[in-house]
Amino acid sequence: MNELPLQRLLPQIIDDLATHGWSRQTHVLPQSLTGELASECRQRAQNGALSPAGVGRGQGLAVREGVRGDSIQWLEPGQNTACDQYLAAMNELRRALNQAFYLGLEDYESHFALYPPGAFYQKHLDRFRDDDRRTVSAVFYLNDTWQADQGGALRLYPNDGSELDVLPEAGTLVLFMSAELPHEVLPASRERLSLTGWFRRR
Ligand code: OGA
Ligand code: MN
Repeated sequence: MNELPLQRLLPQIIDDLATHGWSRQTHVLPQSLTGELASECRQRAQNGALSPAGVGRGQGLAVREGVRGDSIQWLEPGQNTACDQYLAAMNELRRALNQAFYLGLEDYESHFALYPPGAFYQKHLDRFRDDDRRTVSAVFYLNDTWQADQGGALRLYPNDGSELDVLPEAGTLVLFMSAELPHEVLPASRERLSLTGWFRRR
């Protein structure tokens, strides 16, 4: 693959994660690829391929719209060129994180997510009580021309007591330590698309 913008952002990402436990980068992929991922997500939604997201895992998995209101579909390799390019980019990122932090990140799991207008995800951590493999969370946004007054921010709660809002603008990637950073998705007045994933260790 040609060099992606993400490639030259790696040193900044690593520095941010080391210092703050989170990083926000914009224009991480070529606009054309981000647009293809957005189309693919919309296509899947139209085809009825997305399902209401659950809370918890395994036997404890339950749909609770009062907690989270998005619909998702997990990404599988080999279904779509744009998705495969995204997975390849995340694999590069995984290798860079392993080199920098010796995290032993073994794989990356991710899903498309669509929040209809008004949907939200209450404040939570990304690590399950009974499964501590999720180590670094990565959310990539797919929404053109997002305005602050449309809501839908990802609100991060770093442990210094501050609050930080990230708008889900196309091309923005947010990374944070899954077990450490509480966060929530605020309701929006428009549909909100993303690719959300987790780098997992053994
Ligand atoms: C999640 C999540 C954040 C976002 O799916 O666990 O926190 O901005 N998503 O979509
Ligand atoms: Mn989360």
